[in-house]
Amino acid sequence: MKRLAILTSGGDCSGMNAAIRAAARTAIANDVEMIGYKKGYAGLLKNDYVILNSQSVSGILQRGGTFLQSARSTEFRTEEGRQKALDNLIREKVAGLIVIGGDGSLTGALALDKLDFPVIGIPASIDNDIACTDMALGVDTALNNILYAVDCIKDTASSHDRAFIVEVMGRNSGYLASTAAIATGAEFAILPEVEFDLVDMCHQLHRRYEEGRTNAIIIMAEGAGHAQDIADGIKNAVGFETRVTVLGHYQRGGAPTVFDRLLGSRFGMKSVELLLSGTTGVMVGLSANSLTTTPLETVINGGQKKLNDDLLHMAEILGI
Ligand code: F6P
Repeated sequence: MKRLAILTSGGDCSGMNAAIRAAARTAIANDVEMIGYKKGYAGLLKNDYVILNSQSVSGILQRGGTFLQSARSTEFRTEEGRQKALDNLIREKVAGLIVIGGDGSLTGALALDKLDFPVIGIPASIDNDIACTDMALGVDTALNNILYAVDCIKDTASSHDRAFIVEVMGRNSGYLASTAAIATGAEFAILPEVEFDLVDMCHQLHRRYEEGRTNAIIIMAEGAGHAQDIADGIKNAVGFETRVTVLGHYQRGGAPTVFDRLLGSRFGMKSVELLLSGTTGVMVGLSANSLTTTPLETVINGGQKKLNDDLLHMAEILGI
């Protein structure tokens, strides 16, 4: 193998740069050239790439986002788009491609695998909803961002006897909301996967209010409803003054944590080693702190990763 390629696709996250850097340096150590396509599959379709030498990936490890940039490409979803991508890869003499991204990006990688092109997937999504890995890249950094924000909000909530609804990311996934609720000591988590009863929550909050609790934090996933409606419901039923804070894209950026730097480095290095040893069509993952490989077909067909029941139970008990 003389040349490999890498791209980052879909929503960016912290730790992507660590994976790019590790993949590039592992390739170079094996006398293989690594190129990086700009803006995900869109760059692959435009044949827009840079050569990643050791120097060009220097200084990116500690930076959030992705220095190759990312995008969601509609053209790559079509059969013609995929054929064009394949033609570009072959013309540029690329022997294998590493795709870093979430479920949509990994579905794209699977499509290339079905066209018999060697690919490896690296799971990256702050939602942590990708099957067959305990953790995806970016999750830990996003959670730490949420923790910092909620700790700040708790200070002001307790100073003013207020209840805060803090909206975190997760259109279809309550992973961030449920784990952040445990780690911040929030009273409730509202998740897309679990049926929510406003009356029951207000009842429980009211009981705590009467017991003397003067403030509350409720972490809500963005896909679980309208935060302002819940805030209004609490104000009317319990009497707490309420405020809504939407954390938004703040959660996705920032210097990656140690965990994400290590995970990105491990995933990046392993991906190149797999391609060099002739393995293709798999996603690297993490299980019990060891690296795993799972066929992309299994990952994609398995659908969205389910929330862990033990974590949900814990969030409920510890919020009382
Ligand atoms: O999939 C990751 C994610 O951060 C979701 O949690 C969120 O709903 C979505 O991306 C936001 O996407 P965009 O950056 O395109 O608005």
